Amino acid sequence: MEEKNILEIRGLKSYFFTDNGVVPAVDGVDLDIPEGKIIGLVGESGCGKSMTVRSVMGLLKYPGRVVEGSIRFDGREIAGLKENELRDICGKDISMIFQEPMTSLNPVIKVGKQVRETLLIHDRSISREEADRRVIEIFKKVGISEPEKRFNSYPHQLSGGLRQRVMIAMAMICKPKLLIADEPTTALDVTIEAQILRLMKELRDETGMSVLLITHNLGVVAELCDYIYVMYAGKIVEQAETFELFDHTAHPYTQGLLDSIPRIGRNADRLHTIPGVVPNLLHLPKGCAFCNRCELAEKSCHDQGVELREISPGHKVRCIKPIEHKEVTGS
Ligand SMILES: Nc1ncnc2c1ncn2[C@@H]1O[C@H](COP(=O)(O)OP(=O)(O)O)[C@@H](O)[C@H]1O
Ligand SMILES: [Mg+2]
Repeated sequence: MEEKNILEIRGLKSYFFTDNGVVPAVDGVDLDIPEGKIIGLVGESGCGKSMTVRSVMGLLKYPGRVVEGSIRFDGREIAGLKENELRDICGKDISMIFQEPMTSLNPVIKVGKQVRETLLIHDRSISREEADRRVIEIFKKVGISEPEKRFNSYPHQLSGGLRQRVMIAMAMICKPKLLIADEPTTALDVTIEAQILRLMKELRDETGMSVLLITHNLGVVAELCDYIYVMYAGKIVEQAETFELFDHTAHPYTQGLLDSIPRIGRNADRLHTIPGVVPNLLHLPKGCAFCNRCELAEKSCHDQGVELREISPGHKVRCIKPIEHKEVTGS
C-alpha cells in the first residue's frame, strides 16, 4: 500500500531580516511525515529545527518570515499562513508540545480546566461534564496518577515530569493527526524522559497519529523514530531510516553527533565532542557549512557548496565524500 504523507515540506526557506543582514535560519528544507510514523529532526542548538516547525505552525515572529516553499498538511497548502488562519484550517489536527511546559501553561488556572478549555475551543458541542470526563480519561492515559486530584492542581504544584504529562494530555485531547514535539524532554531527568518518550510511542501505536520529534540528542530518537532528518546550519545534511542512519552513517556531522552520545561502558571523559561551534548564519563558509569543523574536509569542501543526494534507497546525504562502510559480502 502506498504511504500517504500527512505533512509535506518542499523547498522551505524562512529568513530573519535583521539590521545586520539576512539570516537564512531555514534554507531549502524538504521533509515528509508519513501517516502514523514517528519522524526525528536532530541537530545541535541553533541549526534551525525550531524555526522549521514554527514555520509550519505559523509562529515565526518578526523579523522572521517564510520567504519560499510549500507546506502541505493533509493535502492542503498552508505555507505562510498566520497562526489564527492556520487554526481555522487545521484547528485540532496539529498539536505542538514545547520544551518548557511552564511557559505554555497559565500559572493561575487549574491544569484540568486548561486542558478542558482546549477541548471546548475545538468542539463546542461537548457539555462541560463530558469534557471533564474526557480530561480525567486523558490524564489517566498519559500516566497521571490520582487524575481527579491533579485536575484541580495549579502548574507550580506539579513536578516537571507531571507538567510535561499535562502538556501531552493537552496536545492529545483533540486527537490530532500530527503531534509536533520540540525538545519535549530536554528539561527533564533521564528516567522521566524515557517514560515520556515511551508514552508518545504508545499513543502513536494506539491512535495512529504522526509525530515529529525534535531533539539535539541523537540517542533520544534511536529507539523511537522510524526515520531521521539531521539538520545543520539551516539545511538537511542527512536523512535515512533510523537503523540505516546508525549502521551506515554517511555525513561526518551525523557521525559527530553519534560519537557524542553517552553510552554505558564508555568513559565519560573520553566522550567525543564535535570541535568548534555552529557557524554564524550571517557568515557561512562558501563551501559545505560543516567544512570548518570536519576532520575529513578537503580543499574542494571549502570551495564549493554541495547538494543533498541519494546514496541508497531512502538515504540522502549532503557531502561530497560521505563516510564509506565496508560491507561484509558473503560468497
Ligand atoms: N529573532 C531572531 N533574529 C535573528 N535570527 C534568529 C532569530 N531567532 C532565531 N534566529 C536564527 O535562527 C537560527 C535557528 O534557530 P532555531 O530554529 O531556534 O534553532 P534550534 O531550534 O535548532 O536550536 C538561529 O541560529 C539564529 O541564527
Ligand atoms: Mg529549538
